[in-house]
Amino acid sequence: TKGGYPHFMLKEIYEQPESLAFTVAGLEPAQLEAVANAVLSARNVYLVGAGTSYHAGLTLAYLLPRLRITAIPIISSEYAIYENLFDRDDVAIVVSQSGETIDTIKAARAMREKGVRVVAVTNVVGSTLSRESDATIYTRAGPEIGVAATKTFTTQVLTLGALYVTALSLLGYDVSQHVDEMKKVPDLARKTIENTAGTAKDLARRLRNRPSAYYLGRGAALPVAMEGALKLKEVAYIHAEAYSAGESKHGPIALVEPGFPTLFVFSDPQTREKTLSNVAEMKARGALTIGTVPAKSDYAKKLDVAIEVPEMGDVFAPIIHVIPLQMLAYFAAVERGYDPDKPRNLAKTVTVE
Ligand code: M6R
Repeated sequence: TKGGYPHFMLKEIYEQPESLAFTVAGLEPAQLEAVANAVLSARNVYLVGAGTSYHAGLTLAYLLPRLRITAIPIISSEYAIYENLFDRDDVAIVVSQSGETIDTIKAARAMREKGVRVVAVTNVVGSTLSRESDATIYTRAGPEIGVAATKTFTTQVLTLGALYVTALSLLGYDVSQHVDEMKKVPDLARKTIENTAGTAKDLARRLRNRPSAYYLGRGAALPVAMEGALKLKEVAYIHAEAYSAGESKHGPIALVEPGFPTLFVFSDPQTREKTLSNVAEMKARGALTIGTVPAKSDYAKKLDVAIEVPEMGDVFAPIIHVIPLQMLAYFAAVERGYDPDKPRNLAKTVTVE
């Protein structure tokens, strides 16, 4: 049941603090260490998934090069392009909420055939993907009924973040701050929901008749922008395009006219300053500038609409920054009279190629 919520999507957004706490509690240090060790000694690390699960894998793909690891993100349906790379010295982290997405299963099979060590990250115990992988890390988000992935995305990002932090600690780094942050994620997610729902709702009203929007981020913030844009398209049927903010002047800014919504994600501390110059460039064209920014920072002043979220380090920040974007998509769908639980043309699990 919807537990008093009008839609499953909203219920599942509000369940995130609880599901994230479950994920944290269920992490198995010995298993994470074994996988992190394999990642650290791999020749190539592939991050494989479709849709939202691809975006989750991307969050890790943006972090691994910091450890001098060659991380190659792969959209499941495109694995064949990389087939000649697959080798027994490689590790694949294959992300799938359902564990039944046919493109993802086929990618995992092709990799295993070549001797790649396949680690599944999935929410469903006993799923096809988990049965066919060398190891499985469960995300423990609980069942997700809404077609739009919400709590399953944030728990995937948390799981992959925990894997990254484990790798850092195996390399001898002091990870105490990361571990503290990870434990705080459920509580900060709750605060974020409480504090940003109103702004998301107001913004949804402003965007309801807009045909199009840009979602922008740099570096580790880009997967969050991509996920926000996918949600808006999927449930509110507003065209949304995500791209790396540095690309504006290479083409997309041509489309910007007064009032055009541009939504900036400030989740990556390393790229915030440069993102600010992209805000200014959009403002100069009269765009409506919106951003998810750390609370009590100066970034809010530079934007027309600031969505303030708790400050967080780069590993877990995507979880906190995506929450208002999920709510924006949800409220925009409702404002426009659509049922966000049943987006047209979409199934919860895609079992045909
Ligand atoms: O079950 P999976 O994670 O493998 O599903 C992959 C995608 O179909 C899925 O994430 C889809 O993009 C979401 N419904 C988007 O909200």
